[in-house]
Amino acid sequence: MKNLYLIGFMGAGKSTIARALAKKCPSKRIEMDQLIEEQQGMAITDIFAAHGENYFRDLETELLRSFSESTGYVVSCGGGSVLRDENAALMKENGCIVFLRATPETIYERVKDSTNRPILNGNMNVEYIRELMEKRRPRYEAVADICVDTDGKDVDAISEEILKAV
Ligand code: S3P
Repeated sequence: MKNLYLIGFMGAGKSTIARALAKKCPSKRIEMDQLIEEQQGMAITDIFAAHGENYFRDLETELLRSFSESTGYVVSCGGGSVLRDENAALMKENGCIVFLRATPETIYERVKDSTNRPILNGNMNVEYIRELMEKRRPRYEAVADICVDTDGKDVDAISEEILKAV
């Protein structure tokens, strides 16, 4: 099986759906953010604060390169990981990219208490989320093989929809 890369905005449900898919397939699961935190021994927020966003993006690229030969994984990707052409190309090489869509209101409800999302630091509100999401949406849609609307659907329905489409 090719890898399944779940992409989308922070709080779109990538980790939750990756867990459900890995059970259903069954397959191995990778949480990009979690792996990076383990490898660096630091929380995402601290990596951004100490080294900046570009350094974090380099870590994402390195991580994607490290399993470019592997297959059979469900990968929950960091929300900004496909912004780099190289990263999207690495995903395309050995996998299928699934974009999980959700409304800014839904996203806000899910991330509003998060303290480990440096991109939203100081801007934790629906309007900012909407603005950033609108900037990123064309990119997510352009790289995705499959787009799935998640609002109003439960985890099981979303994962079944993905499995049917791939
Ligand atoms: C980011 C999303 C985060 C994490 C980092 C940057 C982004 O992952 O990789 O804070 O730029 O959208 P989640 O999408 O899992 O929150």
